[in-house]
This record gives sequence, C-alpha cells and structure tokens, in this order.
Amino acid sequence: MPVSWRDAMGQALYGPGGFFVAGAGPADHFRTSVHASPAFASALLRLITQVDAALDHPARLDVVDVGAGRGELLQTLLRLVLSEGAAGVAVGVSGESTRSGRSGLIPPRAGSPETLTSTAAARPSRDEPSSVPVRPSVAERVRFTAVELAPRPAHLPEDIDWVSEIPAGITGVLLATEWLDNVPLDVAVHTDDGWRYLLVEPTSGVETLGESVSTADLGWLTTWWPSPTRLPGNPPRRPPTSRDRPKQR
Ligand SMILES: C[S@@+](CC[C@H](N)C(=O)[O-])C[C@H]1O[C@@H](n2cnc3c(N)ncnc32)[C@H](O)[C@@H]1O
Repeated sequence: MPVSWRDAMGQALYGPGGFFVAGAGPADHFRTSVHASPAFASALLRLITQVDAALDHPARLDVVDVGAGRGELLQTLLRLVLSEGAAGVAVGVSGESTRSGRSGLIPPRAGSPETLTSTAAARPSRDEPSSVPVRPSVAERVRFTAVELAPRPAHLPEDIDWVSEIPAGITGVLLATEWLDNVPLDVAVHTDDGWRYLLVEPTSGVETLGESVSTADLGWLTTWWPSPTRLPGNPPRRPPTSRDRPKQR
C-alpha cells in the first residue's frame, strides 16, 4: 500500500530493524567527523569551556548530543575530560578533594578566562588557612546526555545519560552532528491541481500522487518556493545590465 515518504523513511530508518536503530549503528556504514578523529571532540571541548564561562559556570553544565549514534562523540568527550584530567591540574572546591568519577580535568590555556586553579595549590596549607573558594571544574559539573532513537549501547559508560527526547531546561551546549539530514520528510509535487503529496509503495518504490498538501505545508511552500516551476534559490532570468559587465582595469 502506498504511504507518505515521511512514513516510508521513518520505517526504513527507525522502525523495527531500521537502518539507524539496528546493528552496530552509523559508524558501521560511514565515517563522520565524530568518528574520524578525537580532534573534533577536542575542539568541541574548548567550545564547551567557553560556553561554561559565558554561562558563568553553572552548577550543572549540560552537554547534549542529539542523534548521538552509539554515543561515540560523548564517549570521546568523556575520555578527553578524564584523561586530560589525569595529566592536568587537580581541581576541586578549596579544602576538599575532587570527587571520584567526574574528577577528570581540563588543562587550562594560558591567559584563558577559564584557567583553573589546582586543588593542591588552592587547598590551604596547615599553617595558612585560606577562605578563597575555588569553583568546581567543568569536569566535575558536566553532565553528558545522548538523545537517540536507537537503544542504549550495552557498554556505554554510566556517566552518559541516554534518552529518546531532548530534555527540557538545558543549561549548556546542545550538539547535533549529521542529524537533520536523517529527519523523515514529506515530498510534495506541483500539479495542475496545485501542490500534492507524493506517495511511495515501500516494496516496489513506485510513486503515486496523494492528497493536496495541508494548509501549514502550503504556507511553507508558498513562502519558500513561491514559483513552483523554478527551483528554489534560482533567481529569475533577466536581461544582462551594465552592472553585470566585467569591470575594466
Ligand atoms: C547520521 S547519524 C549521525 C550519528 C552521529 N551524530 C555522528 O555524527 O556520527 C544520525 C543519528 O540520528 C539519530 N536520530 C535521528 N532522528 C532522531 C531523533 N528524532 N531523536 C534522536 N535521535 C535521532 C539516528 O538514529 C542516528 O543515529
């Protein structure tokens, strides 16, 4: 039976056995910047620390990855935070040891507004108590959340939350790499009767015309594709004017 392209895509990608939800996931089929190298995650980590500073170092800093695949990006970010912590500066609240689990550290950049103070340096010596508070590091405040339609991978570190919908009230960074090109869509064609949906028979791929598009879709089409006989973005042809001539040197 013919169905809308939106339903056909939805089933093929996210239905039972769907391309993105079954098996080993996107990394088994193609490489994205997320899989290619930890350099991408390193760059994002720098961005995350900048956002943290812009938000005035919230008690909980969310990093949410929408369309997280199998959590590759968040796992790399978590690893970077933890491993850089091992080689970096121990950071915590003055006078307290850093918490286990999320006590990885992000090394400071010279001159960075987020330059961190070492717990050891900030901890008051026995002779010299200090009342200077040291804020908990990004590593201690960050909360990683993957938003995915696929089930949670078995061996994902428990530091990464796994949900199927974007949580409300995020304070931090929302990432979405290679996501929007996988959102199921309707397909419409312009006919003598106006805009109609295109249907597809999932097993054969044969397309047929469906109903007229909804009022909302018609509004969208009229706004973004006002001239159905021309591709969007193609300016109307006009005779060349003097402004089009190459400049004389
Ligand atoms: C092309 S993959 C990209 C995966 C990963 N971000 C990367 O760059 O390698 C798109 C991912 O988005 C997920 N996805 C698509 N629509 C989604 C939705 N509405 N909510 C959550 N995840 C979604 C798919 O299951 C798939 O894992």
